[in-house]
Amino acid sequence: MPTTLVTGASSGIGWELAKQFASGGNDVVLVARSEGKLNELAKQISENQGVNTTVIPIDLAKQDAADQLCDQLGERSIQVDTLVNNAGFGALGKFAELSTDRQTEMLMVNVVSLTRLTRILLPQMLQRGEGGILNVGSIAAYQAGPNMSVYYASKAYVLSFTEGLREEVAGSGVHVTCLEPGATESGFGDDSGMAKLGMFSSSTMSAEAVAKAGYEGYVNDEDVVIPGWKNRLMVTSTSFLPRFATRKLVAKLQDVQ
Ligand SMILES: NC(=O)c1ccc[n+]([C@@H]2O[C@H](COP(=O)([O-])OP(=O)(O)OC[C@H]3O[C@@H](n4cnc5c(N)ncnc54)[C@H](OP(=O)(O)O)[C@@H]3O)[C@@H](O)[C@H]2O)c1
Repeated sequence: MPTTLVTGASSGIGWELAKQFASGGNDVVLVARSEGKLNELAKQISENQGVNTTVIPIDLAKQDAADQLCDQLGERSIQVDTLVNNAGFGALGKFAELSTDRQTEMLMVNVVSLTRLTRILLPQMLQRGEGGILNVGSIAAYQAGPNMSVYYASKAYVLSFTEGLREEVAGSGVHVTCLEPGATESGFGDDSGMAKLGMFSSSTMSAEAVAKAGYEGYVNDEDVVIPGWKNRLMVTSTSFLPRFATRKLVAKLQDVQ
C-alpha cells in the first residue's frame, strides 16, 4: 500500500487531505505539533478507512525539523510515496509591527521546511518513478498582499517552486501539484486574524471540498488546482490587472490601520 505523509494534519485542510488519501487506499503519516489531535484523526482513519496510520508530532518552524522528521521515518522504515506539504499559517498586520519571531517562523513552516522535506524525499520518488508532491499554496500567490506581506510572498514562493519542480521532473512518472485554496473554513481565519475581514468571511469553502479538489487534482497529475469558481474568477481577473492595481486593492481589503 502506498504511504502519504501530510504535514499540518491536525486541523482544517490537512485533516481532510489525510482522510482523502486514506480513502484512496494510502497509509498515512500525520504530522503537526498537536499530538492529541493527530491521535484523534489516526483513530478515526484506522476505524473508518482501515489503513495504517503513524503520528509524528513535530514543530516545523524549528531549523532541523525536516531532517528530524525524515530520521524518524527512517527509524520506522517508512517509505513516503506522496508528500503533502500543507502545514502553514499567516498573520494579518503591518510587517514592521508584527512579531519578528512569528514572521520568521512563518517562513520556516511555509517555505523552508516545505522545501527541505521535498529535497530529502523527492530523489527516492524519482528513483521509483512514481509518487509525488502536493504543495498547498494559496490564491494569495497571485498578487502582493499589503498588511500580510510575508504570508503572500511565502505563497508566491510555493507556487513558483512547485511549477519549476514540475518541469524538472516532467516525464519521470512523479506528480507535482500545487493546491491553491481561497478562503476556507479552518483554524486559519482566526489564527491569522483574517476571519474578521469581509473579503474572507463572505466566501469561504469547506475544508473537505478544498481537500477533495486537491486530492483529485494530484491523482490526475494537474499542475495547479484552484478549488471553487469564485476563486478561479478572482485569479483570472487578477491576471488582467497591473500589479500596482491589485496590491492597492488588497491594501484596501486588508486595511488594518
Ligand atoms: N484556510 C484558508 O483560508 C486558507 C486559504 C489559502 C491557503 N491556506 C493554506 O492551507 C494550509 C492549511 O491551513 P488550514 O486552512 O487548514 O489552517 P489550520 O486549520 O490552521 O491548519 C494549519 C495546520 O498547520 C499546522 N502547523 C502550523 N504551524 C506549524 C508548525 N510550526 N509545525 C507543524 N505544523 C504546523 C497546524 O498544526 P499544529 O498547530 O498542531 O502544529 C495545522 O495542522 C496552510 O498552508 C494555509 O496557508 C489556507
